[in-house]
Order: sequence, then structure tokens, then C-alpha cells
Amino acid sequence: MRQGVLSRYKQFLDITSNTPMIDMGEGSTPLVRSKFIERQLGCGELYFKLEGCNPTGSFKDRGMVMAVAKAIEGGSRAIICASTGNTSASAAAYGAYCGIKTIVLVPSGNVAKGKMAQALAYGAEVVVVEGTFDQSLEMVRNFSERNSIALVNSVNPHRLEGQKSAAFEIVDDLGDAPEYLFIPVGNAGNITAYWNGFVQYHEVEKSTIKPRMMGFQAEGAAPIVIGEPVLEPKTIASAIRIGNPASWQHAIKARDESGGSIGSVSDKEILEAYKMLSRREGVFGEPASAASVAGLIKMHSNGIDFSDSRIVCVITGSGLKDPDLASEQNDMPLHQLPLDMDAMNRALGSILE
Ligand code: F0G
Repeated sequence: MRQGVLSRYKQFLDITSNTPMIDMGEGSTPLVRSKFIERQLGCGELYFKLEGCNPTGSFKDRGMVMAVAKAIEGGSRAIICASTGNTSASAAAYGAYCGIKTIVLVPSGNVAKGKMAQALAYGAEVVVVEGTFDQSLEMVRNFSERNSIALVNSVNPHRLEGQKSAAFEIVDDLGDAPEYLFIPVGNAGNITAYWNGFVQYHEVEKSTIKPRMMGFQAEGAAPIVIGEPVLEPKTIASAIRIGNPASWQHAIKARDESGGSIGSVSDKEILEAYKMLSRREGVFGEPASAASVAGLIKMHSNGIDFSDSRIVCVITGSGLKDPDLASEQNDMPLHQLPLDMDAMNRALGSILE
């Protein structure tokens, strides 16, 4: 049986004899070699870390399993978070699995349909707030302090603890760290967690190098790039529509210590990468996830030579999370046919020529 994050990386996590070993099979996600973009850009080696293969379809499960285990260990009977969608889906699933009450706040009108469906299906209390993600996070921080209920956003250090396991897996799979890690940045918890993981594994000599951390925000939601909060963040990549990241300073530290950079990509660049990933690589990530690949393509067109480098792009969540956008962006024709073999031959015969 596949081991979950807590048992697989027990020795690197803050696990005590009182920590419940929750396991929904999270982590151990595929690291898949690129078939097309690697050649197209002339990269040494390019891999995609498919975090959409986690139980709820995003990387959040790695951190959630740890945060919920620690919440239960500490006596909490309820968890709460604000979310652009994936954190709420993950919290709701682990809350259901552990039989604890889950409250999620989501910004109105800005959450992809699949994520909303998940939170409801897992039976969470879903609160839609007339405001942004940043404002919702402020509210849950306040509420959790007053009501001693566990906050499971990435401001909870246990979340980042669990999420660093993805960096461990990459090193375990490749035999060393890659030269570059490309990753989307929203609230900036994940880039922080990956960096912590790479540093920790390097310290115990599991790797000989540490990667440059290459974070990418969406152009209309790029506070770290412009150096100030964005009050009304805008991007098609709703998961990273965040104007004031909680882990801002940690992300800057990861960038600077690793010799990396944090840049931005336009919605157009995100959508191009999104389509290229699914059509040329068979990897259906959500738009926010495609920001990592859009960032790589942009750096390459800015003249950076990746020919001697091993690169990993993190595909943070599944494309199924946002079915509306997938249909909107899908300009392939739909063939409507009667139940008739001749009609089928006429319609499709020419495609195979
Ligand atoms: N990719 C996806 C698919 C996400 O859902 C998120 C964040 C990110 C990237 C960015 O990660 O915030 O650690 O920098 N989603 C959060 C949520 C904010 O509420 O689900 P980050």
C-alpha cells in the first residue's frame, strides 16, 4: 500500500507518539518527463511534478494531513480556512475523514466550480464572502483566535511542514535536487515549503545541490513582483488571485537564498502554457499550475539557456478543478452524429488520412 506523507517522511516531520497517523494516500505523486516542451526549449531535462494526483486533486493535501493531525493532537474538534478553492476542498476532505467540523470561507464568484463542488460534497460548512481571498483570510484568522478552532491556512506552520514533502520526493526520484524549480505563487506558502524541504534534505546530504526557486505570479495579482499589495487582484487563474500573500517575506527569503527569482506571467501566457501542457504533454493542470510552465517559457524567450539544466515544474492542481475554463478554452470541434456507420466514416475518415 502507498504510504501517505506522515508515515513516508515521519523522521523529517514533527510527529510525536500522540500524533494521529492520518493517511488518505496523499503524496508520492508522479514526476513525469516532458515529451515536447523539453525539446522545444532545449532544456537538459524537464519534469512535471503532478500534484493533481493527490486525493483531492491538489498539493494542499500534503500540508492538510499534517495540519489536521496536529489540530487533533492539540484537541481541536473543528478546523477553519479561507481559500481560493483548493485549500477548502482539502480541508473539507480531511475534516470528513477525521470526523471533525470544517468551516471554509471562499471569495464570492471567484472559485472554480470543481473546488466548490468538492467542499460541498465532503460536507463542509461553506461561507461565501463578499470580498477577496485576502479579506477572507483576515476574517478567519480573527475568528480562529477567538474561538480556539484550528486555522489550517498556510499561516499554520504544520501546513508548510507537510508540503515540504514534495521537495523530498523530487530528490528521492531524481537522486539529487534539480537545478531549477518552477512554481506558481499565490499566498506564497508552497514556494516557502519547497525551499524548506530542499534545504533540509541538503543538510542531511540527500542532495548535493539546492535548486534556484523560480516563482511566478499572475500579472494582475503580482504583489511580490511590484513590491506592494494589490487591492483588487485579477487573473483567470483564480487559485492565485491573491493580492497580499501571507508568506511574502518567506518567499523573498527562498528566492534570495536560492539565487532564484519571482516574476509574473500574463493571463495570455498562462493560457498558452495551459493548452500546450494538455495538448502536447497530456498533462491537464489547472490554469494557476500552468503559471510555472509559462514562467519557464518566458525565461527561455528572455534568453536564459537551460541546455545544461535539470528542471522541475510543479503542476499544483488538476485541470478538472475548473471545468468551465476548460470548455471555454477548448476550440476543438465537437462532432454530432446520428447513430449511423456511414455518417461516422464520412465525418471521421478524413481525420485519419
Ligand atoms: N496552485 C494552485 C492550484 C493553488 O490552489 C494555489 C493556492 C497555488 C498554486 C499557490 O500556492 O498559495 O502556496 O503560493 N491556493 C490557495 C487556496 C491559496 O486557497 O487553495 P501558494
